Amino acid sequence: MKLENKKILVTGGAGFIGSNLVEFLLARNGIEVVVYDNLSSGKREFIAPFFKNSNFRFIEADLLNKKKLAEEIKEIDIVFHLAANSDIRYGMRHPEVELKNGTIATSNLLEVMKENNVRKIVFSSTSAVYGDKPKVVPTPENYGPLFPISFYGAGKLACEGLISAYCHNFGFYAWIFRFANIVGKNGTHGVVFDFIKKLRKNPRELVILGNGEQSKPYLYVKECVEGMIYGVEKANDRLNYFNLSCRGATRVKKIAQIVTQEMGLKNVKFKYTGGERGWSGDVSQVRLDPRKMRSLGWESRLSSDQAIRLGVKELINQL
Ligand SMILES: NC(=O)c1ccc[n+]([C@@H]2O[C@H](COP(=O)([O-])OP(=O)(O)OC[C@H]3O[C@@H](n4cnc5c(N)ncnc54)[C@H](O)[C@@H]3O)[C@@H](O)[C@H]2O)c1
Repeated sequence: MKLENKKILVTGGAGFIGSNLVEFLLARNGIEVVVYDNLSSGKREFIAPFFKNSNFRFIEADLLNKKKLAEEIKEIDIVFHLAANSDIRYGMRHPEVELKNGTIATSNLLEVMKENNVRKIVFSSTSAVYGDKPKVVPTPENYGPLFPISFYGAGKLACEGLISAYCHNFGFYAWIFRFANIVGKNGTHGVVFDFIKKLRKNPRELVILGNGEQSKPYLYVKECVEGMIYGVEKANDRLNYFNLSCRGATRVKKIAQIVTQEMGLKNVKFKYTGGERGWSGDVSQVRLDPRKMRSLGWESRLSSDQAIRLGVKELINQL
């Protein structure tokens, strides 16, 4: 579906990936963007540069508020649904937060969309839906059975299921992207963010969760946004679903080294909390098969290591 001259609602548009997406969309011709965000983890300063753009509007509201959502959705052509709880560790201790901001929020959105005849949705899913130690590595989109080990992953899988049912029963079109780990400008969470914050507090020692051998693909945020838009514009099935990843993977130990290097620190003592995963629910080894997106004609230019280095530089400047 071509996005030119479309009116797009971005839920979670004041967040890390959302604000990068909005910047990308507004740079294209004739696209109107409405951000719907409750600012629970998003930041007004991330979208402040867009306030002067007449094609941009911000609604500070919660997806749990169906009445407000119904008022705002009427003229929309397509929804990019990025809002979610992104503090996965917090969600492990508070599954109800994951349920409300993930599954219930998504169910609300789909219902309001149906009632107002808005039937195109793009959804930010995750590699976490594949669960722990999948038997096929790198893991392709058709891998199953899917048994996530975090409430975050479980919630995303539930949302994918709901979206599929709305496609089947109510004529929806959907684009589901299972992201790798994303890094770059406006990051507010994740390993790179944590390491920089910790090292700013104590530049002599860095506590690393797990044994540091956890290894995952890291995709640069601008490539994530570009890949998503490419997929939406090129894939025309009723229910389109893709891994959005990059070449290679980066170990947590190596991320720690890159962060200390880029911060100009020497002789930092790395202290490991131990164990194969950072926290209960963390998938320690992730490899996503990127071939489906490649066969559509898109692949990331940066490797995982290159994305980490660039993301580290951008976050050091920002924090
Ligand atoms: N960052 C990653 O590495 C990564 C990886 C895989 C998937 N994702 C997914 O991508 C999406 C964006 O992630 P992000 O990293 O930008 O996180 P983020 O926390 O920066 O963005 C989420 C946004 O949603 C908003 N929000 C949360 N609950 C809401 C609600 N009930 N109503 C309205 N707004 C609400 C927050 O204020 C925030 O601006 C999420 O769905 C996330 O699960 C992210």
